[in-house]
Amino acid sequence: MKMNLASRTTRITPSPTLQLSATVKSLVAQGQRIFDFTAGEPSFDSPDEAKQAAVTAIQSGFTKYTAVTGIDELKDAIIEKFQHDQGLAYSRSQIVVSCGAKHSLFNLAMALFETGDEVIIPTPYWVSYPEQILVADATPVFLPTSEARNYAIDLSALKNTITKQTKAIIINSPCNPTGSMYSRETLQGIATLAMQHNLLVISDEIYEHIIYDDHQHCSIATVHPDMPQHTVIVNGASKTYSMTGWRIGYAAGPEAILKAMGNIQSQSTSNPTSIAQKAAVGAMQGGTQFIEHMVHELDIRRRAIVEGFNQIPGIHCPMPAGAFYAFPNIADLLGRQFQGKVLSTPFDLANFFLHEAKVACIPGEPFGTQAHLRFSYTGPLPVIEEGLHQLTQAIAQLD
Ligand SMILES: Cc1ncc(COP(=O)(O)O)c(C=O)c1O
Repeated sequence: MKMNLASRTTRITPSPTLQLSATVKSLVAQGQRIFDFTAGEPSFDSPDEAKQAAVTAIQSGFTKYTAVTGIDELKDAIIEKFQHDQGLAYSRSQIVVSCGAKHSLFNLAMALFETGDEVIIPTPYWVSYPEQILVADATPVFLPTSEARNYAIDLSALKNTITKQTKAIIINSPCNPTGSMYSRETLQGIATLAMQHNLLVISDEIYEHIIYDDHQHCSIATVHPDMPQHTVIVNGASKTYSMTGWRIGYAAGPEAILKAMGNIQSQSTSNPTSIAQKAAVGAMQGGTQFIEHMVHELDIRRRAIVEGFNQIPGIHCPMPAGAFYAFPNIADLLGRQFQGKVLSTPFDLANFFLHEAKVACIPGEPFGTQAHLRFSYTGPLPVIEEGLHQLTQAIAQLD
């Protein structure tokens, strides 16, 4: 029997963020007190409307297979959301509901990419984009952005990165891990290039509702009447409604692409869980109060963590516009030593913080940066404050 694994398994690495979260959980299970900043999820409970809808679904026997790409009721709630929030008109055949936005993106990669295709990803990026492209046998092409320019895309650099093989560009605003958002002008520039070169824009809008101050979310699909034909929007219930475990994500875009994604889903997972679909309908119909409360609380935590970081010598941290991650620059700490061992990379520093400060965060490497760490600030304020104190003390021990 031939047991050698398919080559695609050697091209990808398991999700480092999920791995780190697992390490933290096991340290906690061993009785250690860890200040955990790794989680890519809000700490809030899911909305009552979602829970109630799920209970009703279970009790009424809504526990069987559904249509592969989602129940009409949920598709209609999603269509209504696009119409209401963005003025975008989609029909049911342009929507596929999947087991989380990660699954939507995976279906999309499977439906669209193959050997020889290039997909542009601005750095820093969410960890799964390059890996999913590699699974699809295509090539991720990285477009560096800089902290100094607030991680905005340099349009002339984007233009120079486009080749005959380029098939798509992935954008993520607000961004995990930087928390930055693209301006309408930047989106218009990206859209112009996408239309000129006949590219698809994959717009991951999962943090659409988690934005602060007077920032406004803008979907690239709205910046030109032709852009809906060049865009697949990916979104979901995980972040907006603190429903990560329910696994409901969705994609909307050109019918031919969505049909292919639905076909792939029909031969892999089939429908997302019937109960979770009903819960998502409940959440989406539950009004905006839940989101407003969550964003208000997250805003307090955002300010606390960013202001705290900016008081620690060797760290500086821009104020994120959206999502729930602080992305401090720790370049000045690299090269310093702890007990004779040089901390040369974000990974070394994150390890030092975990073991000496009992603070868990995600090093920058899997996001494509050698100068940052990612801290999720979804935990309670006292944990943030104590974590910052621990970090300050640990850093004071560095030579
Ligand atoms: C940028 C981004 N896109 C997609 C996802 C996936 O979300 P879901 O839980 O819906 O699969 C995440 C989750 O961390 C994310 O940060």
